Amino acid sequence: MKIVIPGGTGQVGTVLNRALSAAGHEVTVLSRQPARPGEVPWDGRTVGPWAEVIDGSDVVINLAGRSVSCRYTATHLQAMMDSRVRSTRAVGEAIAAAAHPPRVWLQMSTATIYAHRFDAPNDEQTGVIGGAEPGVPGYWAYSVDIAKAWEREQATADTPHTRKVALRSAMVMSPDRGGVFDVLLRLARLGLGGPVAGGAQYVSWIHDHDFVRAVQFLAARDDIAGPVNLAAPGPLPHRMFMHALRTVWGVPVGLPATKGMAELGAFALRSDTELLLKSRRVIPGRLLEAGFDFRYPQWPAAAGDLVGRVRSRPRRRRSGPASPSRADRTPAMS
Ligand SMILES: NC(=O)c1ccc[n+]([C@@H]2O[C@H](COP(=O)([O-])OP(=O)(O)OC[C@H]3O[C@@H](n4cnc5c(N)ncnc54)[C@H](OP(=O)(O)O)[C@@H]3O)[C@@H](O)[C@H]2O)c1
Repeated sequence: MKIVIPGGTGQVGTVLNRALSAAGHEVTVLSRQPARPGEVPWDGRTVGPWAEVIDGSDVVINLAGRSVSCRYTATHLQAMMDSRVRSTRAVGEAIAAAAHPPRVWLQMSTATIYAHRFDAPNDEQTGVIGGAEPGVPGYWAYSVDIAKAWEREQATADTPHTRKVALRSAMVMSPDRGGVFDVLLRLARLGLGGPVAGGAQYVSWIHDHDFVRAVQFLAARDDIAGPVNLAAPGPLPHRMFMHALRTVWGVPVGLPATKGMAELGAFALRSDTELLLKSRRVIPGRLLEAGFDFRYPQWPAAAGDLVGRVRSRPRRRRSGPASPSRADRTPAMS
């Protein structure tokens, strides 16, 4: 198949591109700074000559958006919003104008669209959309607003010949340098992988192999449209999540951190505590109902596999990365 991945140079794009290319598909990535074969320039905002690669393609998987791994200042939040809404609009316009539009448009969204909650998991049917939860910082609602606007942009695009799916993805765990798993593992190895703020908040995650398989499954299933949760069926409290990670690496201790310490750490890492403290209890209702079979439904086995792959990764040379990845430049936790 001809597959186009706008914003495919980051962490998730690297995972998808690698797997889909290895499976024999012809993958084209749209990037604002194309640097490799198979990358085509676009500005992420307006339709341009790049639209030619959409015309005649089979599948479009739009991942573009400013990294969410940053301080949530008003400027950054606005950039997160604009980059997602505008790039999605441009992709929709290119599909609408295509003589031979793609069969399916998979649009990245996020599991963050759901409410911060502990009592029950969020599936697509009964899940609570966030933004009105009591007792959480007011600015958390903005991440939900971004996700809603992002999905709305796809839902309202006039592309009658193209099936549309919004991927409400949890954190994609891959062994790549600079990805979210790499960051969490590094903290654990430093002895800093203890519970944060009590560790009761749920962590939703998906193993990279299952993420790729779910994308392929959704691309193939003509009967599925609309929002779909891409998360393993076993979200678990942060405390247990980090404990499993420490166990598989063999780190005996993980210093617990208070909310204040997490705030300081996030500040030092130029990130935001929402990424750590929001309880994302999300389950893949529609995927399971459709018969999708997770290879890694539970975290301890997934963490074991990821750690094994990290251990067998080529060592970095002092002068630079052993296998340079564009994902290295954009560590993301979302
Ligand atoms: N990583 C996860 O676990 C996860 C989970 C759920 C949802 N998501 C979402 O999935 C998408 C991909 O995630 P990722 O981790 O691969 O993100 P990423 O590493 O930050 O990559 C996103 C890509 O978007 C492009 N981009 C950045 N700023 C942009 C802007 N202002 N306008 C247009 N394009 C821009 C960049 O490509 P160029 O610089 O080459 O143009 C970048 O490589 C993101 O939208 C993210 O929020 C990620």
